[in-house]
Amino acid sequence: MKKNAYIGYITGGAFSEGLTFKLDRHIPTENVRIGDFVVVEGKNEDFLCEVDDIRLKTTTDEVFFEPIEEKDELERLAVSSFVYSEVSIFPYVTFSKTDSKTFSRSVKTLPSHFSLVRKANDEDLRRLIPEENAFYIGTPLTTNAPVYIDLTKLSMRNAGLFGITGSGKSFLARMLFAGLIKKRISTLLIFDMHNEHGKSIIDEQNNMLVSLAGLFPSEVKIYDVDSSNEDAANFIVIPYMYIEPEDLELVSDLLDFSPKSLETLEIVALKKKDYMHFLIEAYPALGSEERDRVIEELNVNLESLNALSRHLQKLKRLAFLKDSEETSSIDSIMKDLSHGVSVVVQFSGAYKDDKLVYYLVSNILTRRIYEKFSNFHEEDKNPKRITIAVEEAHKFLSRQYQMKNVFGKIAREMRKFNVTLFIIDQRPSEIDPEVLSQIGTRLVMELKDEHDIEAVFQGASHSKRLMKLLSTLEQGQALVFGYAVPLPLPVNVRKYDRNFIEEIRTLKNNTNPIEDIY
Ligand SMILES: Nc1ncnc2c1ncn2[C@@H]1O[C@H](COP(=O)(O)OP(=O)(O)O)[C@@H](O)[C@H]1O
Ligand SMILES: [Mg+2]
Repeated sequence: MKKNAYIGYITGGAFSEGLTFKLDRHIPTENVRIGDFVVVEGKNEDFLCEVDDIRLKTTTDEVFFEPIEEKDELERLAVSSFVYSEVSIFPYVTFSKTDSKTFSRSVKTLPSHFSLVRKANDEDLRRLIPEENAFYIGTPLTTNAPVYIDLTKLSMRNAGLFGITGSGKSFLARMLFAGLIKKRISTLLIFDMHNEHGKSIIDEQNNMLVSLAGLFPSEVKIYDVDSSNEDAANFIVIPYMYIEPEDLELVSDLLDFSPKSLETLEIVALKKKDYMHFLIEAYPALGSEERDRVIEELNVNLESLNALSRHLQKLKRLAFLKDSEETSSIDSIMKDLSHGVSVVVQFSGAYKDDKLVYYLVSNILTRRIYEKFSNFHEEDKNPKRITIAVEEAHKFLSRQYQMKNVFGKIAREMRKFNVTLFIIDQRPSEIDPEVLSQIGTRLVMELKDEHDIEAVFQGASHSKRLMKLLSTLEQGQALVFGYAVPLPLPVNVRKYDRNFIEEIRTLKNNTNPIEDIY
């Protein structure tokens, strides 16, 4: 390492608070950014640290007694011994100095005074994750060294990707999904609310780029609720029989239910097996005398039953709901998933941006799949890992619903069946903290709301430090922390462009990805 690559030396520190170094007087303070990776060269180990804070210091206040107007004089003073800059850094991991093949370890000691500090380079960042699991997701905030995430670890626990609309969630998610499929680490079931993970997408420059089904024609299948989607291999059909009161409760606001409607619904569902057929088709056709008889039989209020049946007429326009037991598409999705084929469920044509349809279909399909998997995998010795990706996750995982909701159940208990969630959301504060605590890896992009920021750091170590770092991030940048990375990584997310696509096409498969190496 050349002498001039050093940017300062250690002046103090504490194990709990981190280290401070004096910035070389020839380096402008503006060249150092919160979140920069630096390496402190100790005697036996190198310490990989991140910049926490930058302070302007003076050795004497006398320098301020006379205002200085001349630029030359200011510059001379800046490199004098009267003023200097001090940088706080936090050491997250160490590397052995003697064995360059080993990976990072947790910090157990501190480097001594005057240890030299330099910016981290490609080699340092490469030593964070074993190569076979390392997936290139971007670069540090101020340099071009590749930064990696451990995709195997990512898929082993629930993951959460949070950020405001337009922050870059879908693009980052697509790259991670592509990596998981290509390296055969996990099979995906994606509820693709905005139809972004099918054959192709259009980028900001109006270029058409292939998306997941375009990249992996034989490993990814598109299902759609609307038959107008020409890319779809299959169409979703859901018999009335598959709808449970909890599915309707989830969308009760969109169906204009009153609290009474829910009560009535539960009574009817309890007493009539084909309650959906009854409420949507049969009841409206009844005359007033017959209605009276039904009221008595069910022991419900006439007005409430009328209102409930009326609200549910909204479901009649959903052509994929069938009033019969004809074969559903659920078996076919199950078959694809158990053969390692990823499934992208899309919402085209009449159902584009229709939240009612999105919530309803995602909930029903996932519950059926959950039921099958929770039985199926117990006797299966070598299960394939499945990741279920869902947008607008807070709807399913709110305090109000998560306990009985299927996504809540998966978040809490499906890890043992090798099924995990990949949650994508712009309002993390609306997700139940109990579910947030079950998220192993968090990828946080730009967030503005205070409550959302607080929520994503709940239960995380170094939350104060990370919160400050997050406040400096912009569109296209992410802070990744948790199980899949050895230290919190602030990154400029790489571009999803022709280079990425080319790289994915030529990427090596893992040979034995299912084996638990941790
Ligand atoms: N990694 C990326 N590569 C290329 N373009 C990106 C990337 N991230 C974001 N963009 C651009 O920013 C826009 C918004 O990103 P998107 O992922 O759709 O945001 P979100 O899902 O958070 O609303 C995209 O349409 C795309 O043009
Ligand atoms: Mg999006």
